[in-house]
Amino acid sequence: MFTKHQISMRNFVSLLMILSIAACSKTSKSLYTEPHRPQFHFTPAQNWMNDPNGLVYYEGEYHLFYQYHPFSNVWGPMHWGHAVSKDLVHWQHLPIALEPDKLGTIFSGSAAIDWKNTSGFGKNGVPPMVAMFTYHDAEGEKKGRDDFQTQGIAYSLDKGRTWTKYSGNPVLPNAGVRDFRDPKILWDAERAQWLLVLAAQQQLKLYTSPDLKNWTWIQDFGAEWGNHRGVWECPDFFPMKVAGSEQTKWVLLENFNPGMPNGGSGCQYFIGDFDGKQFVLDADFRFSVANGRGMYLDHGRDNYAGVTWSDVPAQDGRRLLIGWMSNWDYATKVPTEAWRSANTLPRQLTLRNTAFGLRLFTHPIVELEKLREGGQVLRPEKLRPGPVVNNFAPSQMELILEFELPERGEADFGLELLNAQGERYRLGYSSRINSFYSDRRQAGQTQFTDNFAKDRHYAPRPDNVRKMQWHVFLDHASMEIFADDGRTVMTEIFFPSTPFSAIQWFVNEGEVQLKNGQIYALKSIWRK
Ligand code: FRU
Repeated sequence: MFTKHQISMRNFVSLLMILSIAACSKTSKSLYTEPHRPQFHFTPAQNWMNDPNGLVYYEGEYHLFYQYHPFSNVWGPMHWGHAVSKDLVHWQHLPIALEPDKLGTIFSGSAAIDWKNTSGFGKNGVPPMVAMFTYHDAEGEKKGRDDFQTQGIAYSLDKGRTWTKYSGNPVLPNAGVRDFRDPKILWDAERAQWLLVLAAQQQLKLYTSPDLKNWTWIQDFGAEWGNHRGVWECPDFFPMKVAGSEQTKWVLLENFNPGMPNGGSGCQYFIGDFDGKQFVLDADFRFSVANGRGMYLDHGRDNYAGVTWSDVPAQDGRRLLIGWMSNWDYATKVPTEAWRSANTLPRQLTLRNTAFGLRLFTHPIVELEKLREGGQVLRPEKLRPGPVVNNFAPSQMELILEFELPERGEADFGLELLNAQGERYRLGYSSRINSFYSDRRQAGQTQFTDNFAKDRHYAPRPDNVRKMQWHVFLDHASMEIFADDGRTVMTEIFFPSTPFSAIQWFVNEGEVQLKNGQIYALKSIWRK
């Protein structure tokens, strides 16, 4: 059992944390200034991070828990790390929230506020913050069992600072499914019940509960729809208003690994209706996800395990998502030492009608605007190879650009980042394939694994209107583009040997007009 060894392990963890905090304050000059350290993206101060977990808003704070290995910069026995933010932009690190126990290590999961105290965990009118997560029993796995992943719950009555695990765990045992994990809970206000969606190999399982402790299976979804080239993980399920209408649809997000068109990990989604018992895929949407096709949230290589915040106040009403900005193809090998992996920028999802039917659009959250300092308006002109601006370093930058494609003939153009080493990152668009592309093949360190930069990565553009918008965020080691008002999204990381110091247009083909452009330098969220 977990007695002596565990207690001493726990003390050891606390000691290490105290030592590392002390070390951080001593070395605070270098912390968050290391090579490749993102300046306006979330990263843990030290060590390994993967999926965002337990995203919940409560009393003025957005909580971000995450898969965390406190002792190493590669994946290992998982804990839930913790940070909070008042604005989703600036983050405060907090001590580890959930540690392994005798049932296993703590894999991904979610959190919600149990406002009606259905669980009975609340006290003196304080509603409990309840987390549901996967217990991963590594011993059971080693022994070749199939039931080593089960679901447990824990609650907090002090704004997520301390947690009590439920004595009746696991609340959802495993009937023998090897991949059975990543519970996402949601209060279904219309039917006054809890909903749970979790991933089971290559499909999703839905359950309902009156109290978060007793769960009833209602549906399996997905065996015959979507991309099945990988294991399904980290789902999400929520209602959304269709923009500009009173219509509500239900959206299922489903992360999977491997099998994305550009390789490795990614996220697909499904749109349909839910009556409290059955999720039914929209007739219009079936075609898009039939025969192994997927509808992808982000076409880049580096947005995985993204899920959305629970309990965002109704007067705000946004559906807010954050992803892990990496890919299992190479996550454990990327060339950072002190910490490993960042999150994507927080994003707002909207559901819109398009010529192809309903689609999810993704937008950078407006709060990011407060990071802007200075700014320049670009003159409308015909694009020519050469500097976009002279006095901005591209390592912390936001660009809002509008182009017009030529009336006749093809176009192939974009932005390139350069440094003194002659390294180059390119973000482009080619009308011949009507796709955006990201080219990190010469963007610095790529040799740490063989599949980081084998090829360019593509994002198909569904429309082919001549006007095209690019909203681009560049941090030291990442590029995020929200094109055509969030219709096409790509997230990609890269590791230049020294920071990129110049930003230029490249034009391979065509007469492209820049109609409008704004450029902002962005402040660091970690440094004053
Ligand atoms: C996704 C994932 C989850 C799992 C977690 C373990 O990246 O594999 O399915 O819960 O990571 O860290």
